[in-house]
Amino acid sequence: MNRIYLDQASTSFPKAPGVAQAMMDYLTMNGVNVNRGCYSSAYSAEEVIYETRQLLAELFHFSKCKNVIFTPNVTTSLNFILKGFLKPGDHILVSAMEHNAVMRPVVQLASSGISFDRIPCRTDGSMILEKVEELIRPETKAIVTLHASNVCGTRMPLDALGEICQRHQLYFVVDSAQTAGIVPINMDKMHIDALAFTGHKGLRGPQGTGGFLVSQELAEQMEPLISGGTGSVSHTEEIPDFMPDRFESGTPNLPGIYGLHEALLYLKTHSLQAINEKELSLTGYFLEQLQALDDTGRHIRIIGKKDLTDRNAVVSIQTPEIDMSQVAWQLDNEYGVMTRVGLHCAPNAHKTLGTYPAGTIRFSFGPENTKNELDFAIQGLKKILDL
Ligand SMILES: Cc1ncc(COP(=O)(O)O)c(C=O)c1O
Repeated sequence: MNRIYLDQASTSFPKAPGVAQAMMDYLTMNGVNVNRGCYSSAYSAEEVIYETRQLLAELFHFSKCKNVIFTPNVTTSLNFILKGFLKPGDHILVSAMEHNAVMRPVVQLASSGISFDRIPCRTDGSMILEKVEELIRPETKAIVTLHASNVCGTRMPLDALGEICQRHQLYFVVDSAQTAGIVPINMDKMHIDALAFTGHKGLRGPQGTGGFLVSQELAEQMEPLISGGTGSVSHTEEIPDFMPDRFESGTPNLPGIYGLHEALLYLKTHSLQAINEKELSLTGYFLEQLQALDDTGRHIRIIGKKDLTDRNAVVSIQTPEIDMSQVAWQLDNEYGVMTRVGLHCAPNAHKTLGTYPAGTIRFSFGPENTKNELDFAIQGLKKILDL
């Protein structure tokens, strides 16, 4: 049976060419630690780490390569950032479309006196920008938002939010899980103070890689969430006060960083615009096919935007007449089409979209997917829904 992977918003597949080989080469031909050994293979691993920081800084238009911090994923990064600088009495704004990677730390922080408001979004997931400034209070410290919804693909207006943050002297924290490696992000122009990223989605690196890029001003407000050995300033038991060591303790995920390094080198030779266009052309095609299958919305309800403006290659649907888990199960078992069903770790996004608590079936596309694969998914839906 075919294997058609349409769950790219969860993790990308296939990974960028060369990623697996780079990890394998590191593990079989180098394999040593960094910052600890005084031999050339340790220095060469350090070079790869340094170059990976540089590639990330370049990709996100950020000038301070030493302020690129590695963590296992965007979730850990957001925990580092939010728990690192927020103090009791502070207030923040989040979008109404957040993933639990933002919401769970925020709700956890609420029990220690940090409050938040949600910036309302429309039923297609787009932000109601006019409401933002009404919600800012004297104690508001930051706006925290995802760049694109993992439920319906709608993108947030980062340029406008960055401008508001600058005007009100707020920190701007962005979760780029769904857009890094797909949509251009210019930290400098967008006034982003901290950008959290994950390596295994649009960047097409391995799982277990990620990190954040943080301005020096915000870094100085942040307490490190963890501490331990760094291989530097070993004469003291104090946490180093310099970057990146202040936020990077313990042995890093070296095989993962070698893989991410390769993925970033691959990305450097490909234009983000071309990747984005390819993904959006698949999205447009899929939306058209869905609408042709059922233009009444009785059998298939398309959630979120029905056009290609300000969106990612993520399409959520509901099938009002047949249980969605059943549909997703049949798509996989009978047609080899892999999707995700449920609430996708974003309960409030579903409340905004009007799909809570049932959730949706989510189809998400990457640059290696083809129209043929999408046709197969559509044929599967047609048969399962008896259309
Ligand atoms: C918008 C968003 N934020 C955060 C995450 C969490 O990513 P990770 O599991 O790599 O930390 C995801 C994953 O789906 C996501 O879509």
